[in-house]
Amino acid sequence: MNPIQRFRFDRDKLSITWTDGSASELQALWLRDHCQMPASRNLANGQRLLNITDIPLDIGIADASLDGHRLVIDFTGDGHRSEFDLDWLRNNCYCLNQAQDDRSEAGKTLWDKQFFEDGLPRCHYAGFCNQPGARLAALRAVRDLGFVVLDGVDCESGEILQVIKQFGFVRETNYGPLFDVRTTVDPTNLAFTNLGLGCHLDNPYRDPVPGLQLLHCLESSTTGGESILQDGFMAAGILRQENPAHFELLSRNWINFRFRDGASDLQARVPFIEVNDHQQVIKVRFNNRSIDTLKLPPAIMREFYPAYRHYAEILEREELQVVFKLQPGELMLFDNTRILHARKAYSATGTRHLQGAYSDLDGLYSSLRRLESDA
Ligand code: OGA
Ligand code: ZN
Repeated sequence: MNPIQRFRFDRDKLSITWTDGSASELQALWLRDHCQMPASRNLANGQRLLNITDIPLDIGIADASLDGHRLVIDFTGDGHRSEFDLDWLRNNCYCLNQAQDDRSEAGKTLWDKQFFEDGLPRCHYAGFCNQPGARLAALRAVRDLGFVVLDGVDCESGEILQVIKQFGFVRETNYGPLFDVRTTVDPTNLAFTNLGLGCHLDNPYRDPVPGLQLLHCLESSTTGGESILQDGFMAAGILRQENPAHFELLSRNWINFRFRDGASDLQARVPFIEVNDHQQVIKVRFNNRSIDTLKLPPAIMREFYPAYRHYAEILEREELQVVFKLQPGELMLFDNTRILHARKAYSATGTRHLQGAYSDLDGLYSSLRRLESDA
């Protein structure tokens, strides 16, 4: 069906009224820049062949006409002709379609403890590997809720790396491709003791921060050691609602995170709460262990502490925290730009052994989009 009711043009712009009653007004320059013809795009991969500086700023529309399901546009200047498929125009026009955004709070399902009364998002690992539908549901859970628990993962050292290969790539760090989380003598990190760990995101001192974290339980015979997850986007939204000025202070003022050991000195200057061009939350960071010396301008320091403390106090609210005990063979996969994790202290008797590893969100999102387009 022809989606166009009528159109008109002048030198500057093309105005379309679609059959559903909506309207688009497209600038000549945008149309030339988005030309889909073989001279402008590589047809095999869709990549643009021309530079913006190849197009004069004052380019205009000389003529426009309909040819079946295509709109043909002749431009002023070199007389370049573009043919736009009407469905392409309707689906891509900037008046009716928002910019793609699957990272910010706007596109997420925010949650608190009560949300998971009927259970956590789970997927059996065999299904994750062999059934596209199961894998799709699990990856969607990571996109929308921020995490999924895989069960039935072999309790083999290194298996976590095979899990990552199912959807993306291992993000190797100074801790290696993976790290063991268990009590060690002379620990380089508090994670390697039996102490409780407060809610945090890993590695805020890395730039870029690893977007995904995995923790795989190999052994768990201690008492205690429960895992806690919480939605950092929900917490940031609560802060904004309770005190907009506090939210603003934590998103506007950047601080330093740092991790140092015998071999590394990692530092990043970033905000606690990162927002996009619409002031929507896109990343949160919080890690009590690795906040470096706070060095803010004196006038801001006085205001910053109440905001920082308020945020930390929200993160301690039990109604925001889902608590569960990871069993051997279970692995949690979570968005390390959104989901805070913690663990309770555990006994000195018995053994608790997790393996952790990192990956990046773009690889997971890419796998997810492929599955969605095949579904
Ligand atoms: C970590 C961590 C949690 C746990 O190693 O990053 O937070 O359950 N561990 O031991
Ligand atoms: Zn951690």
